[in-house]
Amino acid sequence: MHHIHFDEIDSTNAYAKAHYAELEDLSFVSASFQSGGKGREERVWSSPKGENLLFSCVIKSRPIIEEGSFLSLIAAGTVAALLEEEYGLVPEIKWPNDVYVNDRKIAGILLEGVGKECVVIGIGLNVNQTAFEGDYRIAPTSIRVEFGREVNLDRLREKIFHRLYVALRIHEDKERFLLYYKNHDYLLGKKVHYEGGDYVVSGVDGNFSLLLRDKRKVTPVVSGEIQLL
Ligand code: BTN
Repeated sequence: MHHIHFDEIDSTNAYAKAHYAELEDLSFVSASFQSGGKGREERVWSSPKGENLLFSCVIKSRPIIEEGSFLSLIAAGTVAALLEEEYGLVPEIKWPNDVYVNDRKIAGILLEGVGKECVVIGIGLNVNQTAFEGDYRIAPTSIRVEFGREVNLDRLREKIFHRLYVALRIHEDKERFLLYYKNHDYLLGKKVHYEGGDYVVSGVDGNFSLLLRDKRKVTPVVSGEIQLL
């Protein structure tokens, strides 16, 4: 498994997208600090130096790229399962790929494509951060806050890389990830707002589309921002 680490960089996703041609399939780019960390919907992802995990995985092989929205599920499911098994936390996944613990966001995932040639999965996982200053749309938390002890970043990074690499390379069973999602579904039964309408979430279908129910029908949604009401 190929891995490059930067002490400081603008964004591991931006680097991975700019350099994908010379990076191996399923290689990892990580950083201790990002000066221009990016979140979903053009938001900023900021993280104090050396406290959290900030990394991107470069995917170039066509069959893996074609997993499409399942890549979100594989990434979020891998992070959540690790939090559960290593630290005994009770993670939930907010569709499509945020990981929550105790109603607070512990990890965010940003998938970006470069044409049809490459997909970059960027993951920010809060590990040792305990002070969260500034305005957060969603209250954040970290492994240290929830688990109560400092975590060795290098060891955790290796574990996540290994799990993600294996899950992506062997095309791990989608059904298993879907089942994991269904058992850790943060949105199930909640009232949400989506593109001008209000709905109740009734789960996901076999393609990992979110099912939004209103008085008249159930609508499957493949992408977009879901706001809790
Ligand atoms: C979100 O909005 O929840 C997604 C956040 C994704 C942040 C990670 S940190 C590593 C990678 N590089 C970036 O610039 N963003 C992603």
